Amino acid sequence: MTANIIDGKQLSSKVKEQVKLAVSQLIKKQIYPGLATIIVGDDAASSIYVKNKGKSAKEVGIKSFQHTLPEYIEEKNLLKLINELNLNDSVDGILVQLPLPRHINSDLVLDSIDPSKDVDGFNLLNAGKIYLSREGVIPCTPLGCLIMLRSIKTELRGKNAVIIGRSNIVGKPMAQLLLNEDCTITIVHSKTNNISEIVKEADIIIAAVGIANFVKAEWVKKGAIVIDVGINRIILDGKNKLVGDVNFNEVKEIASYLSPVPGGVGPMTISCLLMNTVFQCARRNNIDLPNNLTDLF
Ligand code: GUN
Repeated sequence: MTANIIDGKQLSSKVKEQVKLAVSQLIKKQIYPGLATIIVGDDAASSIYVKNKGKSAKEVGIKSFQHTLPEYIEEKNLLKLINELNLNDSVDGILVQLPLPRHINSDLVLDSIDPSKDVDGFNLLNAGKIYLSREGVIPCTPLGCLIMLRSIKTELRGKNAVIIGRSNIVGKPMAQLLLNEDCTITIVHSKTNNISEIVKEADIIIAAVGIANFVKAEWVKKGAIVIDVGINRIILDGKNKLVGDVNFNEVKEIASYLSPVPGGVGPMTISCLLMNTVFQCARRNNIDLPNNLTDLF
């Protein structure tokens, strides 16, 4: 038996269609959702991600304001731009691409974003809401993973979920989301003893560790559901290749469902960013969230 492939590209197109519909409903009310993205420096991968975010926003009718700042910008100038965007009524969402250069205090930057314009859910207030199971902004990548899990219509309640990686961007919020779904959660990380034995117990594996082909077939219980969050660039046979944190070819023979890289979580993250932007726009304008989007949950 080989695993069913969870097609993130196809699923993300469906989410995007729903976002587009919601945007058209807002535009009928003369409300024009806008997303501002900020990138500091010229890291090649981050630049591509941010360009794709802006391009996808435009595709669904969200106005995109892209700000590219030099690597050595002073922290106070970045904070000044965020403050201007906080006050700009055309902007409903503000995304600061991470990681930021080391001379900038990321926490300070993320906390300076108006919580009602935070589309990443990394702001202190919004991050706290997930942990209290209150309605807020769910970080885009974990939200994308959750929608992927929902798409296979499996009961999440009671499942053993192991999250590999404890980042603020993926691992920690993912664990909390799955806890909110009544999963039993375990986070493993670089200092965990016996990672492979713990992963072997999982019904659901979320791999978000940032190491190419980290999860091997022997670590995976037969029939487990595996979501691969990794985006790792490697050189294979002299060619650049994008691979995940899961050894795809091995694990597809063991898992029941597996998300590929590329074409898995990546496109879902972008669609969820667009969805969060529309959510924030609707909330800021005191409009009920469009049903077609809330139905995705
Ligand atoms: N860097 C890697 N993933 C993300 C993300 O989801 N949001 C932001 N802002 N930066 C990132």
